[in-house]
Amino acid sequence: MDHIIGIIGAGHIGRGLAIHLVKTTFPVLIANSREPESLNELVASIGGSLKATGLQEIIAQADILFIAIPWSQLPELAGELKKYSGKIIVDATNNIVSFNPFVLADTAGKTTGEYVAALFPAQRVVKAFNTLAAAILTQPGSGDAGRTVIFISGDDSDAKREVASLIEVMSFEPIDIGTLKEGGKLQDAGGALSGIELIRIKN
Ligand SMILES: NC(=O)c1ccc[n+]([C@@H]2O[C@H](COP(=O)([O-])OP(=O)(O)OC[C@H]3O[C@@H](n4cnc5c(N)ncnc54)[C@H](OP(=O)(O)O)[C@@H]3O)[C@@H](O)[C@H]2O)c1
Repeated sequence: MDHIIGIIGAGHIGRGLAIHLVKTTFPVLIANSREPESLNELVASIGGSLKATGLQEIIAQADILFIAIPWSQLPELAGELKKYSGKIIVDATNNIVSFNPFVLADTAGKTTGEYVAALFPAQRVVKAFNTLAAAILTQPGSGDAGRTVIFISGDDSDAKREVASLIEVMSFEPIDIGTLKEGGKLQDAGGALSGIELIRIKN
């Protein structure tokens, strides 16, 4: 199936995602909160099919949207996406408000994936890429030892399958850990898999 991939957020995580997503055969768009020209340097340094666009264009054109923006910005983005439906949202966000002191935004008892799914009710949310530090995400996904694991969770099995295929092409190893409720609990900040860099050893 053909896709247009979008990355919203072009900071530490957005850049890390872009480096690997250009290995797919699909066009990859990237946007931040400013004009596309602000991303000229980043786009030139990564190359491939990567292209910067405005936020409205990326939302309209991409059918798989990787979200790598601060937690506080999600409600505004959800408003922008309201007139669309059925898009796959790959949610890489964490609800960390500050590291020192360590403060998490309130999610009303939900995992961050469930919270994001409630903000984007017409889209298909898959939680992924939120457990690794950006410094690791920018490294190659596969090496002599094996492939770096990317945990995914979600309530839409088809969406998870699509995202898992992309993760494989990005040279990482997808591991599906269940629903947004159960898997998400392990992925969220403070969860058992948060910050864990796991390598699946080659057979
Ligand atoms: N850094 C990590 O190691 C790490 C690890 C796992 C998960 N995460 C999560 O990933 C997310 C991004 O973190 P980051 O470290 O990449 O942040 P970052 O370096 O501060 O980058 C944030 C990006 O989001 C863009 N942005 C902000 N508001 C936006 C909006 N309303 N619409 C479009 N773009 C917007 C910013 O664009 P402008 O420059 O134009 O403002 C910037 O490109 C956060 O939720 C974080 O918790 C981070």
